[in-house]
Amino acid sequence: MKISNLHRFVQIAATATVAFGLASIATAQDNDKLVVNGEIEMVTRTAAPSYIDGIDEIISGWNFRTDETQALQMDDFDNSGMLGVDAAQEAWDTVQGPEQKSCATCHGNVSSMVGVRTVMPKYNEEAADLWTLEDYINNCRTERQNVEPWGYTSGPMTNMSALISVQSRGMPMNVAIDGPAAPFWEAGKELYYTRTGVLELSCASCHEQSAGLRIRADHLSQGQINGFPTYRLKNAKLNGIHARFKGCVRDTKAETYKPGGPEFHALELYVASRGNGLSVEGPSVRN
Ligand code: HEC
Ligand code: HEC
Repeated sequence: MKISNLHRFVQIAATATVAFGLASIATAQDNDKLVVNGEIEMVTRTAAPSYIDGIDEIISGWNFRTDETQALQMDDFDNSGMLGVDAAQEAWDTVQGPEQKSCATCHGNVSSMVGVRTVMPKYNEEAADLWTLEDYINNCRTERQNVEPWGYTSGPMTNMSALISVQSRGMPMNVAIDGPAAPFWEAGKELYYTRTGVLELSCASCHEQSAGLRIRADHLSQGQINGFPTYRLKNAKLNGIHARFKGCVRDTKAETYKPGGPEFHALELYVASRGNGLSVEGPSVRN
């Protein structure tokens, strides 16, 4: 039933004949190896964590892209997402606000952020809440620099999250799902499997049950977030995790949640945990 709704969605969306079947599944994801700049070796396929039921292997979105798109992520000179990283490096070093502090004033070189992306989102004891990388960045802006927060999905925020992700490139994603994070994880899992919208599709309908199938001119991936932020050829900019979630929910013709809101926080933890073991790739390149 869920699959027939997916087929309906595909039929609605298709502009030409859309091929289904084993042939398309077999060619959708490949075994290409991702090595960035000839030196950073990425794990893009590995065994699924034991707490994930529906899949045996987790696969980065990179493996579902065409050779041309894949190539754009293999060299930083070809990766347009690196322009955002450069912009954020400038912001990192810029002294501002009444305190006349930059990020560097307190954190030193941005390489001090190594590993930070691998554990995001994580439970913040003081706030007694689940915090994303964006939350940590904005907290430092408002509480430590005394400047205005960045919009959750704004350019400067997404650029900064790319700069911080770069410090962990090649390291395995490793978010915690136990202890105080557990209730958030449960809520995220619930959202992942809940069918919504006119088309009654869940994240799992597309990214678990149908990964590898063709949808419009695209191949459905597992919807992993180890590559975020992603530079999308479609909108020619870096895109954050919640912005992507929002687009996917909207595609099912459902009311979407607010980027930065509690639902997407929980969903981010759950989706991140489905990718535990895959390398941090951000900023990646996708179509
Ligand atoms: C006045 C000092 C100060 C300034 C300025 C500052 N931070 Fe922080 N930041 C801290 C402290 C203290 C912590 C919490 C302790 C820690 O984890 O290092 C922190 C934590 C963080 C974390 C979470 C790290 C982790 O391991 O969980 C991130 C990310 C971060 N800051 C980014 C930034 C960015 C980006 C800027 C500039 C926009 C900035 N900070 C500006 C002091 C500062
Ligand atoms: C109707 C099918 C459909 C549904 C339902 C759907 N998505 Fe997607 N999603 C896509 C397509 C198509 C793409 C682009 C191709 C790809 O990477 O899979 C995509 C891409 C993504 C990506 C980017 C992956 C990458 O490597 O950059 C993420 C993350 C994602 N989806 C998460 C979700 C989440 C979370 C949900 C549930 C809230 C969801 N999607 C629901 C169709 C769907």
